[in-house]
Amino acid sequence: MALPQLPQLVFHETGMNDSKIIVALDYSSAQQALEFAQKVSPEQCRLKIGKELFTSAGPALVESLAGQGYDIFLDLKFHDIPNTVMKAAAVAAKLGVWMLNVHAVGGSAMMQAAREGIEVVSRRPFLIAVTVLTSMSERDLQAIGIETPLPQLVSSLCASALESGLDGVVCSARETGLLREQISETALLVTPGIRPDWAANDDQKRIVTPRQAIIDGASYLVIGRPITQHSDPAEALQLISDTIRDLV
Ligand code: C5P
Repeated sequence: MALPQLPQLVFHETGMNDSKIIVALDYSSAQQALEFAQKVSPEQCRLKIGKELFTSAGPALVESLAGQGYDIFLDLKFHDIPNTVMKAAAVAAKLGVWMLNVHAVGGSAMMQAAREGIEVVSRRPFLIAVTVLTSMSERDLQAIGIETPLPQLVSSLCASALESGLDGVVCSARETGLLREQISETALLVTPGIRPDWAANDDQKRIVTPRQAIIDGASYLVIGRPITQHSDPAEALQLISDTIRDLV
């Protein structure tokens, strides 16, 4: 089956900001997320809502934060049969999210279906793929019958995502440089595992500074605790933005 044409580059800079920083709202309740949103502004950052917060707070929170002007990355990593993913992606697009994601291991037909699903709105969200979860080691992969070396698997899943019409992939900070060499400069690399010099590592093991990640080719940085746990989140955002201002 012929692959669909690669997407036109669509600029979803939805007007309020061109920030490279996506704050991970790893909270368990809508109240915590809404309190955080009061402390910063849509000009300073975009917001990521993942499985815990979405399961707790649901679409109402997405609509509320989007209604305040925030660009929302809905990090639900869809992985199911193509028809189910297409419908879920369409609902997410109608919610007004700015970015959503799927698992590349769901296969090309599933990724193409997701791509079709988001066309339901006139200004579609970005659609990106998770390649291999960074929690998986080569040994873990072998245990489920995957013998391909990890870097090769990440590269081929990334290529498959782009061929399926997706806008880019989530990748660890340490993979960013290598992947950027393999893909076009317009493809998105969305990178967690970021720590400014002044922040604690928390449970992140292989970290990169915001500046280094942008130099390596990251399009957007996913940063959680250095901002959400800071006594002054707006100041933390400002400090981080200042370190990359001359690069973006
Ligand atoms: O607080 P911290 O900056 O470590 O948060 C990073 C965010 O990025 C969390 O939401 C985490 O689940 C997510 N993430 C990650 N590493 C990956 C993929 C996602 O840290 N490989």
